[in-house]
Amino acid sequence: MKALLTGGAGYIGSHTAVAMLEAGHEVAVIDNYYNSSAEAIRRVEKITGKNINMYEADVADKDKLRDILKTEMPDCIIHFAGLKAVGESVEKPVEYYRNNIDTTLALLEVMKELGLTNIVFSSSATVYGEDNVPPFTEDMPKGRCTNPYGWTKWMQEQILTDAQLASASAAAASGTDGDGAAELSVVLLRYFNPVGAHESGMIGEDPKGIPNNLMPYISQLAVGRRDHLTVFGDDYDTPDGTCRRDYIHVMDLAEGHVKAAEYCAAHKGTEVINLGTGEPYSVLDMVKAFGEACGSPVRYEIGPRRAGDVQDSWADADKAKRLLGWEASRGIREICRDAWKWQSGNPEGYGE
Ligand code: NAD
Ligand code: UFG
Repeated sequence: MKALLTGGAGYIGSHTAVAMLEAGHEVAVIDNYYNSSAEAIRRVEKITGKNINMYEADVADKDKLRDILKTEMPDCIIHFAGLKAVGESVEKPVEYYRNNIDTTLALLEVMKELGLTNIVFSSSATVYGEDNVPPFTEDMPKGRCTNPYGWTKWMQEQILTDAQLASASAAAASGTDGDGAAELSVVLLRYFNPVGAHESGMIGEDPKGIPNNLMPYISQLAVGRRDHLTVFGDDYDTPDGTCRRDYIHVMDLAEGHVKAAEYCAAHKGTEVINLGTGEPYSVLDMVKAFGEACGSPVRYEIGPRRAGDVQDSWADADKAKRLLGWEASRGIREICRDAWKWQSGNPEGYGE
């Protein structure tokens, strides 16, 4: 199939591009490089020996988007483009709502104009909110989010679900005489904590500024770009007192997208699917595993809890297995090994 990846130069998009190309699919990318660099795409091409049609554009720019989609006419769109920093979203909520919602609306409008029907969306486990108890299953009611970023994911899920329902009604009303009404296929992927890097060490996570997330912070600490790690709270009701998460290797996640895109192109309707491992690990588990991977213990101190953190978050990963025939195969050893390979080989990231 031909897939178009919005935000495909970013962390998860670039790894998914590798997995899609290696599975024999064609890939085109739209990215405005707000949080990424063209070098990531060049490296994906190097890893795979295959070409990517790259478009530098804002997905919310409908005229440009229409031109690109008309040229590509993809079998499936994977919509990664978005702003994703939780803390920043609290400071700049309007920018987050504008970018994340506008890109999704623009895509839906132009898809309808062109009769494109298949879209996979990057959602987040954050939509389970604070009140559900893990393991999270897809049929749990969505919870209250703790920040504007989370609400944008919550709302984008709703927008896509509503658009799909309307498209199904329109298609049913128009019958099978092919008068143009086309039913959408929507796959909402709820990621848990994507971490690690491609096994080659050529692509990986390269956050701009000081990382907010645990694993890129530890990686930068290990190459001397940060001074020490603060563990946010050791008084949670967990075995070692630190929060537990479902850390998923980004290449497992990428391979999950290949299956999701293939599923999306072959079905109609809306499916919500967790992409996680189902295995929780604490902050201190990850600190220890990374120290073992890089050959030197990670220096840390215990600090206060971080506002907005949930104590526990992990997936029930059965639906992905059942529906997509996919499950994560890499553990925290591989995660830390590959994150270290990327960071030690590229201490300044892509350096652009
Ligand atoms: P990323 O920032 O590395 O990638 C997002 C990409 O989208 C970047 O390349 C950025 O330049 C691009 N972009 C943003 N707005 C754009 C626009 N208007 N037009 C064109 N390009 C635009 O982030 P990521 O970690 O790869 O995340 C990808 C998606 O997955 C995001 O939607 C994110 O919210 C979601 N997600 C990420 C995580 C995570 O922990 N990394 C967890 C859950 C969900
Ligand atoms: N942590 C630290 N010190 C740090 C950074 C993080 O102790 O310097 C801890 C956090 O308190 C948390 C754990 O490490 O307990 C994981 O934190 P991350 O920031 O890496 O990840 P989160 O689980 O907070 O957030 C991730 C994604 C969000 C998404 C959320 C959904 O980054 O986009 O999962 O649960 F919304």
